[in-house]
Amino acid sequence: MVVFSELHTPLRTIMTPGPVEVDPRVLRAMSTPILGQFDPAFTTIMNEVMTMLRQVFQTKNTWAFPIDGTSRSGNEAILCSIIEPGDRVLVPIYGRFGHLLVEICERYGADVYSIECPWGDVFDPKVVIEEIEKVSPKIVAIVHGETSTGRLQPLEEIGRACRERDVLLVVDAVASIGGVEVKTDEWFIDGMIGGTQKCLSVPSGLAPITYNERIENILYARKKVERGIATEQDLNYKRSNHFIASNYFDLSMLQDYWGPRRLNHHTEATSMIYALHEGLRLVLLEGLEERFNRHQYHERALIAGIEAMGLKLFGDSSNKLPCVTCIEIPKGIDGESVRKMLLEAFSIEIASSFGPLHGKIWRIGTMGYSCRKENVLAVLGALEAVLIRHGVNVHRGDAIQASLDVYMSENQSLLKL
Ligand SMILES: Cc1ncc(COP(=O)(O)O)c(C=O)c1O
Repeated sequence: MVVFSELHTPLRTIMTPGPVEVDPRVLRAMSTPILGQFDPAFTTIMNEVMTMLRQVFQTKNTWAFPIDGTSRSGNEAILCSIIEPGDRVLVPIYGRFGHLLVEICERYGADVYSIECPWGDVFDPKVVIEEIEKVSPKIVAIVHGETSTGRLQPLEEIGRACRERDVLLVVDAVASIGGVEVKTDEWFIDGMIGGTQKCLSVPSGLAPITYNERIENILYARKKVERGIATEQDLNYKRSNHFIASNYFDLSMLQDYWGPRRLNHHTEATSMIYALHEGLRLVLLEGLEERFNRHQYHERALIAGIEAMGLKLFGDSSNKLPCVTCIEIPKGIDGESVRKMLLEAFSIEIASSFGPLHGKIWRIGTMGYSCRKENVLAVLGALEAVLIRHGVNVHRGDAIQASLDVYMSENQSLLKL
């Protein structure tokens, strides 16, 4: 028999685009004693989670609850509940997570049309709208905050165009929720997916989603088809009898579980619900505006330091995702060796990127509880030291000073977070 010792994990400063550091209050909430999933004390907590999610998603939708699984489970739950084989889905891709949407849609038999723009850019909404005109999709699926490139896609114009044409808009707001403005109703978004392990600063393992009655109608129509009681109108929602029905991701069953009927579906991940409850409570306690401002405040301090060091930011600043800062790796420098030394010598983690950007950029996340002054100053100081060790000709000492300038000029006091 092999018995290992108790876990002893190193204390890290996590400055990646997720998973990020978790507020100690969330960690404490996770050690709350387990309740049965139909215990009224627990169903009250479930209801509170739904109420808080609606506020964070900025929606009046009836349905806002988490899927048990990592963020992509939210994408999959919404998409598989509305796609029937042969449905046209348009996916504008501007980074790695657009490709994930394509893959999910294809697995459920959609006829996927994708358009791509160079990684580092976002789409001019007019380009997407022209494509909607050409393709006439049933669904447009798009990422709001693309963590792989650090970009933020404007959605309102696309949302309005979709609604006018009766196209469903599904948005992956995994990286933006809780850190950047996300307006589900005002932007005409039918299905929205958030992530826990990023700006909400809750561990990975749940995917909060919300959807409106346009999606709900599809769920009801499908149910009637399954029971053989569909009307002509319901059949309009349902062209094929061969859609793939997931049990785990069946939103109509999940509704019956999260809603007043409380019909058994899965066994709820109690401790994760506690964590999400506390994470959402902390977001609302801070205030949405205040939280978005905090993310931008620390972004300014980080960028000032990076630029003062003599490094170049990647991508167009007009569409930058405030909680992810991408830096071009100086020519001839081994990006992975820099990351390794940051971790080993300073216990700081930053990220590389994917696909065409691997080896070309580093990504620094300033998300949720990781988005703090001491973390920004620590990563700047450590990065400068490591780059000097790697022979990069940085402007020594300037980064921290430039960052402190931002903190002191905007705040007059270094005591604030
Ligand atoms: C924008 C975006 N969408 C989806 C995902 C997938 O999330 P997960 O790995 O939690 O399934 C990520 C993960 O980083 C992401 O950044």
